[in-house]
Amino acid sequence: MQDCTIIIFGATGDLSQKKLLPALYHLNAENRLTENTKVICMGRRPMDQKDWKDKVVDYVSPRARGGVDNDILTNFLTKISYFHCDINEAETYTELKKILDNPEYNFSKNIVFYLSIAPSLFDVVGDELSAIGLNKEDAGWRRLVVEKPFGYNQKSAHDLEEVLGRNFNEKQTYRIDHYLGKGAVQNILVFRFANLLMEPLWNRRYIDHVQITHAEQQGVGGRAGYYDGSGAMRDMIQSHLLQVMTLIAMEPPADLADESLRDEKVKVLKSIRPITEDTVDDHAFRGQYAAGTVNGEKVKGYLEEDDAPENSVTETYAAMKVYIDNWRWKDVPFYLRTGKCMPESRATIAIRFKKPPQELFKDTDIGNSHANWIVMGLQPENTLRIEIQAKKPGLELSSHTVGMETVETEDTKHKLDAYEAMILSAIAGDRSLFLRADEVDLAWKAVDPIIEKWSKEKDFVHKYEAGTWGPEEATSIFDDSCHQWRDNV
Ligand code: BG6
Repeated sequence: MQDCTIIIFGATGDLSQKKLLPALYHLNAENRLTENTKVICMGRRPMDQKDWKDKVVDYVSPRARGGVDNDILTNFLTKISYFHCDINEAETYTELKKILDNPEYNFSKNIVFYLSIAPSLFDVVGDELSAIGLNKEDAGWRRLVVEKPFGYNQKSAHDLEEVLGRNFNEKQTYRIDHYLGKGAVQNILVFRFANLLMEPLWNRRYIDHVQITHAEQQGVGGRAGYYDGSGAMRDMIQSHLLQVMTLIAMEPPADLADESLRDEKVKVLKSIRPITEDTVDDHAFRGQYAAGTVNGEKVKGYLEEDDAPENSVTETYAAMKVYIDNWRWKDVPFYLRTGKCMPESRATIAIRFKKPPQELFKDTDIGNSHANWIVMGLQPENTLRIEIQAKKPGLELSSHTVGMETVETEDTKHKLDAYEAMILSAIAGDRSLFLRADEVDLAWKAVDPIIEKWSKEKDFVHKYEAGTWGPEEATSIFDDSCHQWRDNV
């Protein structure tokens, strides 16, 4: 690992408190940050170094795996400093440069700029960093990590790309999709490409359809102000689930280099069958939670959340059917769905195989055949189950479904947060866990017709009771009457 300086813009914000600072603490605990790696936290609130360090202790301590280790925390705090500033002001950057150049502080010239700020501020930060030459890589490498949301449609993402591209090139730009940092998501590639067993079956000849589900029990909580302008299609499907789909659908890459992986993912996204305004209703469904009970607790409906606009039709549930028109997948539906206030918090990929071509057992107690499934649990646990039919013990010829299952139980030490992997990859200069501009662009292209149509239809959205699996009518996107959502995984 190389020395580097990590500069967090928006360091006092929610993401930094809950994810970035705890992730950096854990990396430090694992000796993944060099002695001379330092973190500069940029924030608008006036605070001295001691106040900030006290806050960092408050953010990190409750999130430290296995309890906080005081020695490690003390060492971590020596790496942290606070820089009170207004990121809109040019002198902020000249001051920052002075600090970085001051030999007394010995800051590494390898710099990660982590933008955990509103996208509307990307231009001023990029321009000002460039004005003082901090985007130039003469003295060390310079990397820009950007958080989502990356635009709200294809056009705005394109505009944002132009803003970033003015000062940082593609190689320097690391667009976050934290799903790619999850161990269970990385396991998709290992499962597919470190085993020979699956490959011959992994295509339209044997696979009937694929379901990718992200369900969470929480509602939008205090985020309705932000969420209302986004909705589930943007918030989860465009940004995360389409990426998970590409990992299931991609061809084996030439090697594990970041560009080789990204090239294969882009090929999948390019092959998505375009949805037109006329076909939106066949391909997508939206719903919004009404009051109900989640986990034994009564919860209010979306419209009763603070800051939710009256009569909003913003979806808190979205389902989408995707076809990938290539040799491997043509006509195999990929059903993607996500919802808030669901009965459980979990993410799964369920792959349903076709039935055997001959109903050999139809006149026996076994009857008509059942399809095989492979179910990959992404969270809360990393699981893998293969469901097959087997003869029941006894004299009769009858069968039942048996599951061959593995559960990777992560001990405290290995229960990593996605942000640890992401930050480490950014420091190492490995972009395989980050999105390339064309991936973002193509993911927007896939969902744009849907969000466009939904934005015009403002008078109705299907409701579902909080604590249920979404509106029953969501099955309308299935193209086969025997398809059904796999809720009880
Ligand atoms: C975020 C969304 O990107 O992902 C949130 O903005 C969502 O609305 C979250 O809750 C889900 O992530 P995870 O890792 O909890 O499944």
